[in-house]
Amino acid sequence: MMTSGPDGSLAVLEAIAPIVCAVPAAPVVGSRETIEVIKELMVKDGKEDDEHMKTTKHVPKKSSMLSQDVMASSTIKAAVQSAIASEKRMGASLLRLHFHDCFVQGCDGSVLLDDTSTFTGEKTAGPNQNSLRGFDVVDNIKKQVEAVCNQTVSCADILAVAARDSVVALGGPTWTVKLGRRDSTTASLSQANSDIPGPSSSLSTLISAYSKKGLSTTDMVALSGAHTIGQARCTTFRARIYNETNIDASFASSLKSNCPSTGGDNNLAPLDLQTPTVFDNNYYKNLVNNKGLLHSDQQLFNNGSTDSQVNSYTTNPSKFLSDFVAAMIKMGDISPLTGTQGQIRLNCRKTN
Ligand code: HEM
Repeated sequence: MMTSGPDGSLAVLEAIAPIVCAVPAAPVVGSRETIEVIKELMVKDGKEDDEHMKTTKHVPKKSSMLSQDVMASSTIKAAVQSAIASEKRMGASLLRLHFHDCFVQGCDGSVLLDDTSTFTGEKTAGPNQNSLRGFDVVDNIKKQVEAVCNQTVSCADILAVAARDSVVALGGPTWTVKLGRRDSTTASLSQANSDIPGPSSSLSTLISAYSKKGLSTTDMVALSGAHTIGQARCTTFRARIYNETNIDASFASSLKSNCPSTGGDNNLAPLDLQTPTVFDNNYYKNLVNNKGLLHSDQQLFNNGSTDSQVNSYTTNPSKFLSDFVAAMIKMGDISPLTGTQGQIRLNCRKTN
């Protein structure tokens, strides 16, 4: 049973039983890929289905049912894998979407809402505009999920599962994603501008931005390891490579040709110069060599209180991975909408 705690805690989500949803006899909207995924699941998950049926009342015919958790873990995974096969960076972009969702009003899909003449979303916020990517991939996932499981899986849950599947697809750790978040009917441009930390943040600003969301300094340092994948625009690291002294000189100069002191704002550089499409601990190895790309990255290793944690992740990659997983689960628990709050959007870009 789903009950919402006063603090909106997500222990709630763990309590949700798998929701059974009917698969239309002849899917009309689903792509060929979706249908194949469903067929495959029916064969592969036959055993699981039998077990599920033993404990579930009012079970429809086995051939016409799928549980929500199966949907979330399979249709989304297939779509994420296919998007990453087309462009590896997409895994990073999807992971970041979940972060930018959760830091504004909680993990409620608010980041996905488009502006209209009467509605202001978060997409034009400083940290988001010309920066967030992957909205089309989310639309595609949502279409496929709706085709087989109408109005059951929220856009917020899709972001949480897609983030996990992206990390896995790029060689990182896996974890169980709690489900049951519902989607907002509101967004907050002002909170997107104030609560998502920027690349010029100091260590104390980073610590307090995470603390405001109930995340510890340890969580902050571990979550920052997400910068082991993906790219950043010149405008986000220009000041660092031209003006700062706690940067490896040859690293700085190698970045300058593609990030001139004026112009080229949108030119890209990898956040992890070594393995930008692999989820590993190289981000921290870069930091101890003064090769953090963003000012905010290097703040984690700049003779401050977080140096020791960064050092430990360079020599103990499995500690990084387990701390990252724990922190991702905590981040995914930020202020969920549950019960009758919010809605399950049919289209992630607009309210129903
Ligand atoms: C600690 C505070 C953080 C700051 C200041 C920060 C800042 C940034 C900036 C400035 C960019 C480049 C954006 C652009 O140039 O358009 C970026 C990219 C990225 N961030 Fe963060 N970030 C932070 C934390 C996180 C967290 C917690 C995650 C995920 C768990 C994350 C995941 C990513 C990813 C994967 C990219 C690359 C996206 C892509 O290639 O499309 N970041 N971040």
